[in-house]
Order: sequence, then C-alpha cells, then structure tokens
Amino acid sequence: MVGSGMAGILFALDAAKKGTVAVITKREVSEGSTNYAQGGIAAVWADDDSFELHIADTLKAGGGLCREPAVKVMVENGPRAIESLIKMGVRFTAGSRGSSSLDLHKEGGHSRRRIIHSADFTGREIERCLVAKMKSNSNITVFEDHAAIDLILKSKITGESNAGERVVGVFALPPGSREVKSFLAPATFLAAGGAGKVYLYTSNPDIASGDGIAMAYRAGAKVANMEFMQFHPTCLYHAEAKSFLVSEAVRGEGGTLKLMDGSTFMEKYHPMGCLAPRDVVAKAIDVEMKKSGNDFVYLDVTGLGKKTIQKKFPTIYKTLLKYGIDMATEMIPVVPAAHYICGGIDVDLWGRSSLPGLYAGGENSCTGVHGANRLASNSLLEAVVFSKRAAGKALEEWERLDIEIKNPWSSGDAVDPDEQVIITLNWDEIRRLMWSYVGIVRSNKRLKRAKTRMEILKKEIREYYWDFKVTSDLVELRNIATCASLIIESAAARKESRGLHYNIDFPKRGSKEPKDTFLTKKEKSNG
Ligand code: FAD
Ligand code: SIN
Repeated sequence: MVGSGMAGILFALDAAKKGTVAVITKREVSEGSTNYAQGGIAAVWADDDSFELHIADTLKAGGGLCREPAVKVMVENGPRAIESLIKMGVRFTAGSRGSSSLDLHKEGGHSRRRIIHSADFTGREIERCLVAKMKSNSNITVFEDHAAIDLILKSKITGESNAGERVVGVFALPPGSREVKSFLAPATFLAAGGAGKVYLYTSNPDIASGDGIAMAYRAGAKVANMEFMQFHPTCLYHAEAKSFLVSEAVRGEGGTLKLMDGSTFMEKYHPMGCLAPRDVVAKAIDVEMKKSGNDFVYLDVTGLGKKTIQKKFPTIYKTLLKYGIDMATEMIPVVPAAHYICGGIDVDLWGRSSLPGLYAGGENSCTGVHGANRLASNSLLEAVVFSKRAAGKALEEWERLDIEIKNPWSSGDAVDPDEQVIITLNWDEIRRLMWSYVGIVRSNKRLKRAKTRMEILKKEIREYYWDFKVTSDLVELRNIATCASLIIESAAARKESRGLHYNIDFPKRGSKEPKDTFLTKKEKSNG
C-alpha cells in the first residue's frame, strides 16, 4: 500500500492482523498532511450534541452534494473512532469534567463544540502514536523514500489480454535509484494524500502532489468531483513562511477577521460571521482583497489574552513569534490558500475503487462525505472510519496472486535526464496558472485559457517523460499536471456554482438534482 499518513497507517495496522503489509512512502515516514493537522477531529462527544446535528452540519456545508449514506457511516462511527485512537495511545487534550472528558473546540460550520484535539498539534500527536504502532508491528515493512510511480495492471504485466483489469500492486522508485521496483500485492490501498501542490499557494506539505489520484486515473479508475478544491481562509501571509496554517479553531475561540483599517466584514457575508463555512469565508476574503487591492487581511486574536493563547495554541504562538509576530498583541496577516481536495478516487462505502484490487482512503479518495465543500475537521474522521472499513473489506476479498511477470517496468531507450530546468519551469507555470485561472473565483474564459495552456504543458511533459529515465521530480510534475487537468475539466463540466466551485458565468446553483462529476480515462496506460 502507498502512504504513511493517518489513512495509510490505520489500513496497514488492520490489514496486518491477517497478512503481511508493505507500506511504500515517499519521504520520511511522518511527512504528510496528517502531521501538520492542527484543529482536530470532529465527532459527537458533548451532551448537547447528536448524530443528527453533525450529519445536518456536514450536509449543509457540502452544498447539497454529499452522499448521505457515507455521511451517516462517518458520523455514527465517530465516537467509536475516537475511542479506538485513545486506546491506541493518542493523547487528546482533556476537558474540565473529570479524566474521561475531552476539551472540545468549535470550527466554522459546526453548530456545536465537537472538535477533539491535542492542543494545536493534533495531527502530530496522532502520527506519533500511529507510527510507533506501525514500526513495532512485525507484519508491516515500511519502505521510506520510495516514490510510487504507477499502479501495476495484471493485463499489462502478464501480457494476458484476457486477464481482466485488476490492480496487482505498484511500481516504485527506491531512494537514489533510477531502477524501478515492482511491489506485487493481492490488494493495493492508495493513501497518498492531497493535491494542494497543484496551486501556487497552499497549506499542504511538499508530498501533496496528487500522486494517488493521478496514478489511479492513469490506470483507468473513476475519479470524482475534482473541481472542489477547498481554500483555507487563514494561512500566514509572510515572505519567509512556506504554507503555515493558522487554525480555524483560533476563530472558534473568538479570533476575528479584519481589514487594514481594523473594521470587520464577515457579518456582511454570512449570519455565522467569521465562523461561516470555509467556502464562504475564503470567498469573502478574496472579494475584500480584490476590492481594496491589499495582499492580505488580518486575523485579530488579541482579545483572547496571552495565557489562553499560549495554552490553546502553543505551536501557532511559537511559530508566529519566529516570524516576528506576537499574536497576543498584534494582528496576524492571513490569506486563503489551497488546502484540501474534496474529490479524488471514487470509492464506495468500503473504500473500493472502480478497479478490482484497488482500494483508496484518506484525502486521495472521494467517499462523497464532503460533497461540494468539506466541513472543518471531518477529514481526519473520514480517514479513520473509511480506512478501517477498507482494510476489513480487503481482507474479506483477498485472493492469492498467481502471476508470471512477462512485462516488467521497462525504461526502453530512455537516458538520464539532461536538464532539470524543464521540470522547474513547468512545475512553476502549472501552479501559477491554476492559482490565477482556476482559483477561488472561476470563469468560462479563465477555464478555457487554463485548458489550452495545460494541453501544451502536458505534451512537453509527456515527451520528456518518455525520453528520459524516471526521477521522483518528474513523477511529481506529471502528477500535478494530471490533477490540474482533472480539476480544469471537472470545473468546466459543472455549469453552476456550488460549494467550493464558483464560476462568475454561472453564479447560481443549478435547479436540477445535483450530480457528481465523474472522469475516467478512455485509453489505459501503465507507465
Ligand atoms: P497524508 O497524511 O497527507 O499522507 C500521505 C502519505 O502518502 C504520506 O506518507 C506521503 O509521503 C505519501 N505519498 C504521497 N505520494 C506518494 C508516492 N508517490 N509514493 C509513496 N508515498 C507517497 N483535517 C482535519 O480533519 N482536521 C484538521 O485539523 C486538519 N488540519 C490540517 C492542517 C494542515 C496544515 C493540512 C495541510 C491539512 C489539515 N487537515 C485537517 C486535512 C488532513 O490533515 C488531511 O486530509 C489528512 O491528514 C490526510 O491524511 P492522508 O493519510 O490521506 O494523507
Ligand atoms: C484547521 O485547523 O483550521 C484545519 C482544520 C481542517 O482543515 O479541517
């Protein structure tokens, strides 16, 4: 399986109860979005909360596009998921009502306090615990610094055209090598995370180049709802800060968005003000920035007091101080940035993709729980609930592999790459054009321009890919190009504005029953 974030490790731990698991991961084992998650994990915990309320909030944020059965599964398994994490050793911040109570934060779009957290480093605490569990499991082997390149299709590797389209593992590039290795498996789980790196400004770490989505698409799997890229409203605006997030929980505790002159503006856009769902807040900031010509807005938390800030948000407080901002006394300059892809590899309630043998979970999958806009802190919950279900299903459907490899990975006549500059330039151009043409506010003209540019870039990348031996940079470039095209194509296909997709040429929600946007590659390729 691919990926060692929350989704990948939870799948591996459950699958290892009955079999052996190879975990392929691109960098050091903890490096992924999970490790940077701040706010927490949403679940019904408080006495005044209920499954009905959490479901209703999720559906409302999702703009009418959530798959309700999936939302129900996620929400109703929430408390059990939290208990299982606690049992594994995750230390959540305790509440004031005795040892079993948990401190609950509030975030945008939630009608109750239900964000369970470890101060403001929830992801790091979860990853710490899960990595330790995984490393001590003798049925799991972790391959760090291995970049998965493509899925292995049975028909291609055996040369049997009647073998049926089944995924039987992945090709991966070991560290410092140009020789591709085959990892064969009766079940392959993709948990390669998000695709924030498709955009110039993102909260995501570098691993988030949409590899899982691109690999699955190339192999012929169905991909869904790629137009719904969520922009987080409050990433730090600072010349030296690369993708640092200021958690929504800060607004949950009273942080207020302000313009340069100190005036507030969110009350003009939504009755929930600064705690409106993320699509509303990010769009409002975008409008205000365009109106004023300023590059950022402010988040003011000074009313909270130094003691509370240091206790509740120790990581954010210390990080901002490093950049010369004391959030206890100064306002924080913030901008929206690409944060979370709601679409991905289309899966059912058991994490099964449209290709036999291929399962997916976490951010690279689309279970449908987020619809057109994810409710804050629902993604970690989705990752726990659906990865565990996928592991159960994969064990149930497990079939011994009996394969004779006739066509291993072949580099053909490819030679070592001559110039890195092509990769750097294309990488930069894709991310800039996606930011400018396919960002928070879209139009038909911008989408058309983006499509035309991407066709040229993709041709150049394709030629380079087949002429030169594969490197991890080249693989990532090819993947962000694929994801960018999937986002453009999906955005162009949606002739309405809904949730995170806002097109000025179709500013209203369509009147017809909302539909998912599905894309499947017509011609399948294995490399
Ligand atoms: P990740 O944790 O991103 O892991 C992906 C794994 O795949 C990594 O190990 C990576 O190395 C590996 N990988 C990628 N490509 C390859 C490849 N080609 N070959 C091999 N390995 C590969 N959500 C919440 O619910 N609550 C929050 O508070 C929250 N805060 C967030 C804060 C930040 C700054 C960010 C970026 C996201 C936040 N999110 C939050 C979203 C959430 O963290 C992610 O959606 C979730 O952690 C994704 O988990 P994952 O296991 O799917 O992917
Ligand atoms: C945050 O802490 O603001 C991120 C929460 C999320 O992305 O769900």
